[in-house]
Amino acid sequence: GAAAMAGAGLFGRPDAAPAFSRALPAPLPPGPETIVRLDLTAAERQLALPCSDGHALPLWTFANQATPPIVRLKLGQRLDTHLVNGLTRPGEHVSIHWHGIRLPNDQDGVPYLVQQPVEPGASYDYSFVPPDPGTFFFHTHCNTVEQLGRGLMGLLIIEGDETEPYDAERILAVRDWRLTPDRSGFLPFLTMEGAGKSGTFGTVRSVNGASNPDIEVPASADVRLRVLNVDPTRISEIGFDGADAAVVAIDGLACPPFPLRSWKMGPAMRIDVVLRTPSDGGSVTMYDYFAAAPVPLARLVARGPAVRTKPFDPAPLAAARIAPPDLGAAQNQLFTFSATATGAAVAEAAGDDGGPLGPLCLSAASLWAINKQSWPGSGMDKLPPPIVRLARGTTYRCTLKNVTPRMHPIHVHGHSFTVLRSSKRTLPPHFADTVLLLPEETIEVAFVADNPGRWMMHCHIIEHQETGMMAWFEVA
Ligand code: C2O
Ligand code: CU
Repeated sequence: GAAAMAGAGLFGRPDAAPAFSRALPAPLPPGPETIVRLDLTAAERQLALPCSDGHALPLWTFANQATPPIVRLKLGQRLDTHLVNGLTRPGEHVSIHWHGIRLPNDQDGVPYLVQQPVEPGASYDYSFVPPDPGTFFFHTHCNTVEQLGRGLMGLLIIEGDETEPYDAERILAVRDWRLTPDRSGFLPFLTMEGAGKSGTFGTVRSVNGASNPDIEVPASADVRLRVLNVDPTRISEIGFDGADAAVVAIDGLACPPFPLRSWKMGPAMRIDVVLRTPSDGGSVTMYDYFAAAPVPLARLVARGPAVRTKPFDPAPLAAARIAPPDLGAAQNQLFTFSATATGAAVAEAAGDDGGPLGPLCLSAASLWAINKQSWPGSGMDKLPPPIVRLARGTTYRCTLKNVTPRMHPIHVHGHSFTVLRSSKRTLPPHFADTVLLLPEETIEVAFVADNPGRWMMHCHIIEHQETGMMAWFEVA
């Protein structure tokens, strides 16, 4: 993996500084397989978010706190999770998908495809050893627009990739909340208008549940920032103003450090950034540069004596232990992402004004497709045939072709792929589990189909996923 990624070019803004010099160290060996037990109860909890102006909201969470629980393991440890569904709405089943973790198929948390959904009052146990260190998260894979909209997710940090420890670490989980103007309740999570376009955006932006928070960091230090876009919908372009910063991992997996100017992150995408903080009293602003007017999301405020004096040259993380694709022997596979109808057209046919969708209207909606096939219905219960069957152990070179004017962050379960190239941008080869397709962009990825089972592939703009842009494939 390390060798395949050497010689990575620059991307982001064209005036990016030269790359850093240090190569990826070899993967670190996993520690002993001790067991970490985790109890999660999905339930409605009336809790105030830091950004809800003191109003308690009907959040759906896995733990008794408004912000997502943070689960930390060391590489090699086994995570044994006991999930209880404490939701009371009839039929409101849940499951947990461990996003980006290359785990055994029956632990992947996709209802109907690999497990029965967990009905209200029922429980379910998950057990696996995550094979890669890095920044991950987990989320429900049922009624996802609403369940994720109300907060049903957690963060999963697998330690064991730092060969030269950084001075501090902060998690920056970026998402919107769809709140009423006075922030006392939720707006409808799904609209036909949004589903047919770029998704229904939240109204209140947040980092770790707070609006533009101040986050204290040590001064003149190399701080690791684990940045996650956990929004159901919004694509952000993340950058830090006021400090040198380098990307050291993408979707949890180490890459040779390169200067961060800004990075487009669709829902579910992560980057690990190492940033040299300013001296005592100085601050750095995290922005979303996506729109013409940058939006400040959080401020890092430096406090204390200087930790480092040498020029910024961030230590790389240890390489991930992922089979490198064998491009010489690869099979080619084309996936075309298209629209089947516009939201407006479907809304009109349903006699709807484009406002909030009723369940009937939603289940009639198929707005998006992969290889001209829309997932039937809005739930997971009607399984279509697999979109493709892949031979276990074979390298597949996949062309991901977006023929729509919208962006789609495409996620593949159970595997990490190498992003090879784009028709529109200069990308360094890197591993990922979710790749953002810009409008009309084609991206080539490759991976070894080395994880047997039934795996999802879908857009992670959840409204797109639930209105057709979802498929599954089999590795056997
Ligand atoms: Cu995070 Cu099927 O997704
Ligand atoms: Cu999409």
